[in-house]
Amino acid sequence: MNIVVSGTGYVGLITAVCLAELGNKVTCVDINQEKINMLKSGKAPILENGLEELMKKNKEKLIYTNNSKLAYKNADIIFIGVGTPEKKDGGANLKYVYEVSNDIAENIEKDTIVVIKSTVPIGTNKKIENIINKNARNNVKVEVVSNPEFLSQGTAIKDTLYAKRIVIGVNSKKAEKVMKELYKDMNIPIIITNRESAEMIKYASNNFLALKLSYINEIANLCEKVGANIDDVTKGMGFDDRIGDQFIKAGIGYGGSCFPKDTKALNWCANFYDYDLKTIKAAIEVNLNQKIKLIKKARKYYESFENCNVAILGLTFKPNTDDLREAPSLDNIQILLEDGANIKVFDPVGEKVYKNINFEKITYCNSIEDTLNGTDICFIFTEWNCIKNMNIQLFERNMKKPIILDGRNCFDIEKIKKYKVIYESIGREIVNNA
Ligand code: UGA
Repeated sequence: MNIVVSGTGYVGLITAVCLAELGNKVTCVDINQEKINMLKSGKAPILENGLEELMKKNKEKLIYTNNSKLAYKNADIIFIGVGTPEKKDGGANLKYVYEVSNDIAENIEKDTIVVIKSTVPIGTNKKIENIINKNARNNVKVEVVSNPEFLSQGTAIKDTLYAKRIVIGVNSKKAEKVMKELYKDMNIPIIITNRESAEMIKYASNNFLALKLSYINEIANLCEKVGANIDDVTKGMGFDDRIGDQFIKAGIGYGGSCFPKDTKALNWCANFYDYDLKTIKAAIEVNLNQKIKLIKKARKYYESFENCNVAILGLTFKPNTDDLREAPSLDNIQILLEDGANIKVFDPVGEKVYKNINFEKITYCNSIEDTLNGTDICFIFTEWNCIKNMNIQLFERNMKKPIILDGRNCFDIEKIKKYKVIYESIGREIVNNA
């Protein structure tokens, strides 16, 4: 089968490489020449565990090109994996999906199945099918299939090749057969449904997880007030299979390119249909407050951060990615800079992430030690292993005042008590030994 994947970001590239791993020849199309050149040289434009290795392994089966005209011409299946960023009103911006759709309509020369992998508002698959069929230059027919992805950044390859489920939203038996054939060797449960349900499965899944996180973060906030310990509370909850022990780690809120965008998009959809989606609205509000919770805690020590020397450990929205989108660190840095703080930051991804930060007046460090040197307070925004496993003595030894505000509960409270530091985390007791 002649497979084409449009878009070489997280969704598109991972889909393409995994389809190649399954034995298919795949052409990857992107309008960004720089990205295509990079891919051709064997380099991945994103940091993702095992990606470059898999690209190398399947080199013979992967073609990278800017020439969409040639790529779409004889395709049997075209996957759309381009971005659907957030619009100002919270809705999803489908500009890129429409651009690809028009390009497909212009160039296909035979009946084609178009598979939408990108997260799109409910009803989009049908709309795209109409657009392509209406604008098709040649006498061909397109069927659009919804096949949402459930990969998490950092574990994207594993999440795709060993997915928990494959969701396929179709409108015909023919498309169903082609899609089942494509995934037949994967031995993963396949859910066949209509396109609207498939689109909803994606939103409902992400929104449920976001809701779960906002819920646990509120419980953590309450733990602080009543003297409970959120680590023990979630441990106790997690043994109940109905609750589960995944995705209940309290912190400074969810970030990334998916949850913030998808919660707003589902809320937008509910508004459109005149439905008040109370739970998700609450999850969004809780998350906004959670993101700046550490700053509020820190005001106890410094009413203003003017001329305060601040150390920041971790910038990315979670570990094992170089992605800064919607990272809580950014909201906090903004506030600290507005206050007039002197900021030093460390993130193990280093240059790859530093170059994407638009803040001036920040010192980028290559080690935790340099970052902590001479500072009055330290914020931890990402639970990278090198931070979780760092020598806690470094705080005592290097900081002017060892005040640590940990947004990811990186350290064991009992262990921290052995050091002369002030330590505040999320949903746990305050340690004040300084
Ligand atoms: C998320 C979903 O997990 C994927 O299933 C989905 O396919 C993807 O969005 C998408 O729609 O493309 P991702 O955004 O990569 O994946 O990141 P997650 O691992 O889900 O983490 C999201 C945020 O939740 C992070 O900021 C993380 O720090 C936070 N989180 C996660 C917690 O605070 N506590 C937890 O227990 C888990």
